[in-house]
Amino acid sequence: MAPVPSSPIKVGHIDDVQELRKAKPKTIPERFVRDMNEGPTLAIALPSLSDIPIINFSRLVNGSKDDYQTESLQLARACKEWGFFQVINHGINLSLIESIEEVAKNFFMLPLEEKQKYPMAPGTVQGYGQAFVFSEDQNLDWCNMFALGIEPPYIRNPKLWPIKPTKFGETVDVYSREVRKLCQNLLKYIAMTLGLKADIFEEMFGVAVQAIRMNYCPPCSRHDLVLGLSPHSDGSALTVLQQGNGSSVGLQILKDNKWAPVQPISNALVINIGDTLEVLTNGKYKSVEHRAVTHKEKDRLSIVTFYAPSYEIELGPMPELVDENNPCNYRRHTHREYNKHCN
Ligand code: OGA
Ligand code: NI
Repeated sequence: MAPVPSSPIKVGHIDDVQELRKAKPKTIPERFVRDMNEGPTLAIALPSLSDIPIINFSRLVNGSKDDYQTESLQLARACKEWGFFQVINHGINLSLIESIEEVAKNFFMLPLEEKQKYPMAPGTVQGYGQAFVFSEDQNLDWCNMFALGIEPPYIRNPKLWPIKPTKFGETVDVYSREVRKLCQNLLKYIAMTLGLKADIFEEMFGVAVQAIRMNYCPPCSRHDLVLGLSPHSDGSALTVLQQGNGSSVGLQILKDNKWAPVQPISNALVINIGDTLEVLTNGKYKSVEHRAVTHKEKDRLSIVTFYAPSYEIELGPMPELVDENNPCNYRRHTHREYNKHCN
């Protein structure tokens, strides 16, 4: 997570969207209204489930040689052509998937005063509020967010860990440990699809940085005018997204210059390649732009984990992936520099 900037940032008034929803204003405040004609349009034919690759993780870990090879090819294709895939049989207990969702939802349902005990200071990314607001005239997302730094321990801010719901902290810790293992394992299989040794990322990353962000988008009567999350790519190496069971379909990814909706699969996790992995692989694997839309009547919860190298590590395309036919496409930088640049 980015360090706190030294100069104070003016972000203007930020409405809490859950409170706005309750107040039922006749018009949507201007800062939330987007120009939907700008940029790519929605894909007309919805991609079918089989389009966004599905990776059966247990076949990578425990499958026969053939299973492994088929799944590994599918993983390579997903990283190269989509930058996104859904992982099934990921090994994380269903009860844990349900528990994190429950504590997240219960947190967002608390009264505003309770949530505001953990405010996200302007220009920072931990706590309750809207992340990535850096100016007074910037558009706002129709979404409430709550974010915490998890690892290494020095990025934790204990004052921002909610005491309500009672099981919140404990559940976030247990869940984050499981997701960390999944990220480490996925990175091993991803390394192997590139012909690299399995531990290459683990060795390179040092003590990886991990953060969690919960996004809650209430319904919006004018969902045609607002966005749950603005288009962006993730700075991480890998991102793990859990979509709330029964939530509205909201995530869209840029594919062939059209927004393609990601249809939730129950108990699956959505994984995407972040900018860091795109740089390390010299652009072979893609960090794809994505956004979230809202729904007229249904709310949407998502729980997102970002996994990235230590801030101190200098990153650039891996020498193994640079040659005469694949010249170096990115300059070297540290993860900290990159974060400063982005935030
Ligand atoms: C994010 C993100 C998508 C979602 O938090 O970076 O892209 O569906 N979230 O919440
Ligand atoms: Ni994202």
